[in-house]
Amino acid sequence: MWHGRFKKEMAEEVLDFTQSLDIDWRMAECDIQGSLAHVKMLGATGLLKEDEAEKIALGLEKVLEEIKAGKFIPSKSLEDVHMNIEARLTEIEPLGAKLHTARSRNDQVATTTRLYLRERLKTLRDELKILLRVLTANAERHINIIIPGYTHMQQAQPISMGHYWLAWFEAFSRDLDRLDFALKSLNESPLGAGALAGSTLPIDREMTSRLLDFDCPTRNSLDTVANRDYMTDYHYFASVLMIHVSRLCNDLITWNTQEFAFIILPDEFCTGSSMMPQKKNPDVLELARGKTGQVLGNLIDLLITLKGLPMTYNRDLQEDKRGLWSSLDTVESVVRILSALLEKLEVDERLALAGLEKGYSLATDVAEYLVMKGVPFREAHLKVGKLTGWCIENKISFAELTFEQWREHISEADEDILKSLSPRESVNRRNTYGGTGFKQVEKQIKIAKEKMRD
Ligand code: ARG
Repeated sequence: MWHGRFKKEMAEEVLDFTQSLDIDWRMAECDIQGSLAHVKMLGATGLLKEDEAEKIALGLEKVLEEIKAGKFIPSKSLEDVHMNIEARLTEIEPLGAKLHTARSRNDQVATTTRLYLRERLKTLRDELKILLRVLTANAERHINIIIPGYTHMQQAQPISMGHYWLAWFEAFSRDLDRLDFALKSLNESPLGAGALAGSTLPIDREMTSRLLDFDCPTRNSLDTVANRDYMTDYHYFASVLMIHVSRLCNDLITWNTQEFAFIILPDEFCTGSSMMPQKKNPDVLELARGKTGQVLGNLIDLLITLKGLPMTYNRDLQEDKRGLWSSLDTVESVVRILSALLEKLEVDERLALAGLEKGYSLATDVAEYLVMKGVPFREAHLKVGKLTGWCIENKISFAELTFEQWREHISEADEDILKSLSPRESVNRRNTYGGTGFKQVEKQIKIAKEKMRD
């Protein structure tokens, strides 16, 4: 297409090295969508005669049909998706030679990629909303189940399993906000920025922006062809989301061990061992955790590609898509399978509670009980700490202590201390806003549901 300036053909190995068809062909339909808007604008502004524009559009529709029918076999010798489509168009309709008027592949590739990313992000947004709904439903299903809450992987205080699911609801709804930001940052139209400086021809950038459902045309042509921030915004969203996924999966993998054993993973989401007949392995959760590295790597990959790149377009930017596809495909599949698994996950209420009864996770409750009797918190902390030490030495749990034994260690204790010593009561009484108390969790479920309705 640029042979005018050259005496020799491009070397075969250079073509192999520089082509991007294997990566960008998946954007073919979006590329045509962009071209259709462009040609319509060329017709409306008089840069092409109306009937010329119509014929080109018709030709583009034909190419689109061929692609959809799987009949279009693109050629690497034409370098990328853009050139392949233009070449085929011109075969079908010689007027196709006028399509690239006032356009460069630099504004074209930015437009096509934004359109493609926008489509994928909309699908992902729906998937993420399903995950949020499943988490809310699980919170409702499991609100009355008491599990140990951990800090430092040490039993800390009893919590409602519903509260646990809502913690992930919070994290993933922040991800939804980040996704919306990424969607907003990509939604400006690059078309008309040209190679870098705009065009001498009287194009209408507002019109193409409108036709492609962008919010507005971009404001600076140099920035437009140099900018890949909309991709880094996506990668950052994806990375943080996968960090959340990997932490959640790790909890579930741990709780699924024989030592914890208080969650039951659905059989159809687990795998067995080729040698050990007893095994039921949480491979889906492990793979979701394992895929996190790729997604984080793709963020860093793009950031390093961009670092130090001169204003404006540089061919390095062609390397921006491989990681984007990898990350889009991974995140979509992870979110989808995670929702399906969580929907069927069960909790063994009895085992969750049994684990709690061996420990001393009600120690804070006892200290706060003493605070209500007028004991300064530091003093209460010391007393309960000493009692815990004594219990550990004597291999006895709080639940096994008689009222007399309580009295021996804590003179302020009254009979009512015994009834406050159940994990359920402990959860019930943590009734501060955002706390694990059942009433609070109910309130948060309601808020979550309202949020999902919006
Ligand atoms: N295949 C190229 C890419 O993905 C298209 C833009 C080529 N522009 C150029 N000036 N060589 O970035």
